[in-house]
Amino acid sequence: MQAVLEFTKEQIDEVDGLIDRYGAHPSGLIPLLEKVQELLGYLPLSIQEYISEKTHISPNRIYGVVTFYSFFTMEARARHRVQLCLGTACYVKGADAMVEKIENDYQINFGESTEDGRFTFEKARCVGACGLAPVVIIDGEVFGKVTVDSLDGILEQFA
Ligand code: FES
Repeated sequence: MQAVLEFTKEQIDEVDGLIDRYGAHPSGLIPLLEKVQELLGYLPLSIQEYISEKTHISPNRIYGVVTFYSFFTMEARARHRVQLCLGTACYVKGADAMVEKIENDYQINFGESTEDGRFTFEKARCVGACGLAPVVIIDGEVFGKVTVDSLDGILEQFA
C-alpha cells in the first residue's frame, strides 16, 4: 500500500494486530497510538491515515490526538534521544549555554535529529533531579552536573 511504503510488511502486520486489539474500543485510540509509536518509533501522517482507514476514526481526530500530546512524535527519532532539562534549577545552572552549544555544534533545532541518525535533541521540563542540575537525559539515563565542556564526552559514549 502506497501510504505506508516506509515500513516493512512485518511492521504493518504488527500494526494490524494492534489495531485488532485496540482499534474497536472507543477509548482505545491513545493506547493504540502509543503501541504503534513504540513499534515504529514515530507516527507519520502515512501511518495515521492507515490507522484511520482501518479503524474508521477520522484522520483529523487522530492527527489532533498525535499533535496534542507531547509524547507523540511525527518525526523519526535517531538512535539516541538526548533531552536537556530546561526546568528552573537547570536553567539557572547553565542549561541555556548547552542549548546554544548543541545548536551551534550540530546546526539543528531542538526536536530535530542529526543527519547521521545518531541523536535527536529535545528540551524537557523538570525531571525531578534538580539537586543534580543541570541535567541531561540520554535514552532515559540521567546525567547530572553537566557542563558545556563535559557534554561532548558524555555524548561520545553513545555511538
Ligand atoms: S529543573 Fe532540571 S531536574 Fe529539575
